[in-house]
Amino acid sequence: MKPTCAMVLAAGKGTRMKSEYAKVLHPVAGTPMLEHVLTALKQVKIRPVAVVVGHRADDIKRSLTKAVQYVAQSPQRGTAHAVRCGLSFLRGKKGNVVVLAGDVPLVSATTLKRLLRQHQQAHAAATVLTMQLKDPTGYGRILKGPDQRVYGIREELDASPNQRLIREVNTGIYVFHVGLLVKFVQQVKAKNKKKEFYLTDVIEKLVAADHGVIACRMKDPREAYGINSRWDLAKVERYMQEKIQSYHAKQGVTITQPGATYIADKVKIGKDTVIHPFTFIEGDVQIGKKCFIGPFCRLRKGTRISDGATIGSFVEVVRSKIGKKTMIKHLSYVGDAQVGNQVNIGAGFITANYDGKKKHKTKIGDKAFVGVHTSVVAPASLGRNSKTGAGTVILKNRKVPDNALVVGAPAMLKSKSTKRARRKKEKK
Ligand code: UD1
Ligand code: CA
Repeated sequence: MKPTCAMVLAAGKGTRMKSEYAKVLHPVAGTPMLEHVLTALKQVKIRPVAVVVGHRADDIKRSLTKAVQYVAQSPQRGTAHAVRCGLSFLRGKKGNVVVLAGDVPLVSATTLKRLLRQHQQAHAAATVLTMQLKDPTGYGRILKGPDQRVYGIREELDASPNQRLIREVNTGIYVFHVGLLVKFVQQVKAKNKKKEFYLTDVIEKLVAADHGVIACRMKDPREAYGINSRWDLAKVERYMQEKIQSYHAKQGVTITQPGATYIADKVKIGKDTVIHPFTFIEGDVQIGKKCFIGPFCRLRKGTRISDGATIGSFVEVVRSKIGKKTMIKHLSYVGDAQVGNQVNIGAGFITANYDGKKKHKTKIGDKAFVGVHTSVVAPASLGRNSKTGAGTVILKNRKVPDNALVVGAPAMLKSKSTKRARRKKEKK
């Protein structure tokens, strides 16, 4: 494959979002939409990548985790003007450049690969990724001659009534021969209703100079769905959830009510785990095999759930590790905790992990039995095989010894060895 770099256009204001934040930083499945686009480019090994920024440029630079070059565009005078601001990035590069917007987070590596393959097979000067829509409103229309060859793209505002009937539209994703893009983008004039420099006008110029331009049509138009408004964001999130959840389903995870479940894009889930509805799994959560999660459960960043664990209804877990076959079945908050294997946690368990300034850790040993309504004022620990009575409050810096039973508020030591521990010892 020829060397291919990319330019992501993200300088626009995103006025229709009605937001004080940069549009491309609004998250989809927990990750800024621009980051999704960069991930797709990375999966196809397209580099280097330049991101054209203008509106809220500093916020964007601060938020991105991937290595990219930045190009400044100010003021923003259209998509061709954005590319022109990046001429120094393009000059001297060989091969092709993928140009796309930062607000199409659903675009997949597979689609980008197909676009590049078709472009190279046809030895085209430019290939436009297009889609067929029932309602093409708002998109640039693809103009084709009787021989089905692309000869231009017309923005809706500038289109004739007949051209508006065309349902094949521009996704705003293209591949160009770098040298030809550099040459022709400089010839674009702002001769249109919005008085902007349109990148789409490069197509007409290429064709007029006898360079080949082709259209590559998307199989699933939803993938090129751009986000201009909050409602677009909601629709894209819904489709992203479908993509993420169907992926997990294919890997052997049961999701009983996909429409009522949220799973962030970095989450990992093992086989034969069942996710019940109204469950929110955020951040980088990892769940093992054969777990039962939900209904009504919230798993937050830094959470690791080991094989066979049950995290039931109205349970919130954050920055914690939950051991194998441990059960936290109802109404609990577990923060900054390390919970061992085969622990049973009764309803209403709370880690008081935050003292107003700092967060503190709770440790619970294997096979501990935590009675209902136990609170742990962290930092504190419960030993292996230990037991707490109902309503126990374990104070700060306390260490409940292995096998011990504690009761009360604050917890008092009642017995150094529980009946259970004694019975187990006798068995051995
Ligand atoms: C653009 C295309 C249209 C296509 C549609 C697909 C043009 C002229 N039109 O229209 O044919 O159907 O995308 O979604 O290109 N941007 C800049 N600098 C600017 C202007 C825009 O960086 O000066 C960025 C925006 O941040 C955005 C992208 O370019 O990420 C597209 O701009 P936008 O104004 O949203 O174009 P559309 O009207 O959607
Ligand atoms: Ca747009």
